[in-house]
Amino acid sequence: MAERIQDAIVFRDAAIRRGDRIIWQHGDFAIPAGSVTAIVGTNGTGKTTMMKAELGLLPLASGSVSVLGRPAGSANADIGYVPQSYTSDIDSNLTAEQSVLLGLTGTRFGIHPVTRAQRARARRAMAFVGIEDKAPYRLSELSGGLRQRVAIAQAIVSDPKLLMLDEPLANLDLASQRAVAHLLARLNRELGMTIQVVAHDLNMLLPILTGAVYLLDGHPHYADMRKVLDSDLLTHLYGTNVQVVTTPQGDMFVTPTPDEPDGQPLDMHTAAEVAELHHHAHTPVMHAHGGNDTNPRR
Ligand SMILES: Nc1ncnc2c1ncn2[C@@H]1O[C@H](COP(=O)(O)OP(=O)(O)OP(=O)(O)O)[C@@H](O)[C@H]1O
Ligand SMILES: [Mg+2]
Repeated sequence: MAERIQDAIVFRDAAIRRGDRIIWQHGDFAIPAGSVTAIVGTNGTGKTTMMKAELGLLPLASGSVSVLGRPAGSANADIGYVPQSYTSDIDSNLTAEQSVLLGLTGTRFGIHPVTRAQRARARRAMAFVGIEDKAPYRLSELSGGLRQRVAIAQAIVSDPKLLMLDEPLANLDLASQRAVAHLLARLNRELGMTIQVVAHDLNMLLPILTGAVYLLDGHPHYADMRKVLDSDLLTHLYGTNVQVVTTPQGDMFVTPTPDEPDGQPLDMHTAAEVAELHHHAHTPVMHAHGGNDTNPRR
């Protein structure tokens, strides 16, 4: 029987350097298995760097990181990774199916004989993300939202335990962002994948997040969602005043603090109230601003 791993990712007093500069240090936290965690921080704070360290692609300057119970880099066969800007970097002459198959064959170079079983797995992954009808299309023929789903299908085709996505919502319109968020929720709930996702706007992901790693002042911290939704913390994090609000419908979102409250103010909550709310109304009930997590739209 497979060993049960409590924590998917564990950093111990970790620091990382690029060139002669320490990007962040004193990373000391554990991300639980089965969680959906955001990595949050302004540009250049080291979010992508953190994922690369978890994949063993960049060495730590000090400390340690283990992933799925093993030293970073040793468990990569169980990790699906969607790099930042993947969809603009990949060869857009590939068909959707060929791209997804790369997740099994590992390289885009050379002609790979593809087995019937591999093709079946690719079809299953495409079906899961809702693009099976796009299999023969070249990436250049697909919209950004569909390409992002191709990228996710490629990352999940090998049935990873951990899925890491670097800004999967960037450049997507609201409907596509919602579709990707919904997809991540299903991967987590239905397939039990642990998910880590870099995002600048938490709103679309709020309903599914269980916690966040936030990169602040050169240190990564991990907090569960009740703590993250603290307006003071978010304000510090975004470098501008933000507030967590809920609408009368129960939608919850993070918004810049208005200079002047208008005539029909949204409910403003203290951090403690938000924590309670979020805690009790977690996942199935709560949904993001304008979203409806139980109702996928394709
Ligand atoms: N190849 C490299 N060599 C040297 N320094 C680098 C390299 N890549 C990135 N850096 C530096 O490391 C820091 C962290 O970069 P990283 O890409 O991890 O940030 P990020 O949080 O993902 O930013 P963004 O939100 O823009 O994607 C940046 O200051 C960047 O300048
Ligand atoms: Mg990045």
